[in-house]
Amino acid sequence: MEPTPLINPEQYDLAPLLAAQNRTIEWLNTDDGDPFSPPNVARRSILQAANIVPLRYRAATADHPEIRQWINTLTAEARATQKKRNSPVASVGHGPSLLLLGPVGVGKTYRSYGALREMAVTGVAARWTVVTAADLYAQLQPRYGVDSETEFQRYAKASVLLIDDLGAGGKLSEHTETVNFRLINYRYDHQLPTLITSNVLPKELGARMGDRVASRLVEMCDRINITGPDRRRGVAA
Ligand SMILES: Nc1ncnc2c1ncn2[C@@H]1O[C@H](COP(=O)(O)OP(=O)(O)OP(=O)(O)O)[C@@H](O)[C@H]1O
Ligand SMILES: [Mg+2]
Repeated sequence: MEPTPLINPEQYDLAPLLAAQNRTIEWLNTDDGDPFSPPNVARRSILQAANIVPLRYRAATADHPEIRQWINTLTAEARATQKKRNSPVASVGHGPSLLLLGPVGVGKTYRSYGALREMAVTGVAARWTVVTAADLYAQLQPRYGVDSETEFQRYAKASVLLIDDLGAGGKLSEHTETVNFRLINYRYDHQLPTLITSNVLPKELGARMGDRVASRLVEMCDRINITGPDRRRGVAA
């Protein structure tokens, strides 16, 4: 693996992320020639994050103490495992999941991409896969010439998975209920970190996602209720 070139922190709006993680720009741009050193892993992760995060959320921050707590739990666990196994790089493996609940436009997706970006500056590697629930259901519809089971496994086994907008839309169909259950059950069984956003009310989780999914989510996730106005209103597009 090659060392990652030094990066311009302004290009990626990194200042608040570095400050939240008690890191400096000098640390990030430590030129030690070691591709496995935490600053190198952080630089590589920042470039990867920039490829995943949509334009609208390119400067997003985690902006919530409990989200930061989740990041710190996962990265501390990764470092402990690295030490135990004597591996070259700390990588997020197992750990708790997070459920961000709140009404339309309060900043759930923003904070989720903020979490992805903030994790990138820690120097702990995390391979994120990102999908909205609606896209997931569409991708997993049985289609001619597409092996939807392979697609499903890609999400089920992702190291860290962001499922945006779970429970949005109307009533559960048999297809969406099956996808929800299989995906959440897999991630529950294997304790794979999953960040889920939803605007379902806590008391309606069962009705909107199925009781068996809701029960697993309650056990596997720390839950954060995000409140506030719809930030989209009154803002020019
Ligand atoms: N803390 C923040 N600072 C600056 N802009 C923000 C912040 N939180 C959200 N926004 C902006 O507000 C808008 C709505 O945020 P976002 O898309 O995250 O809402 P949401 O809760 O995911 O809504 P929905 O339930 O409709 O998906 C976006 O343009 C986002 O960039
Ligand atoms: Mg959203």
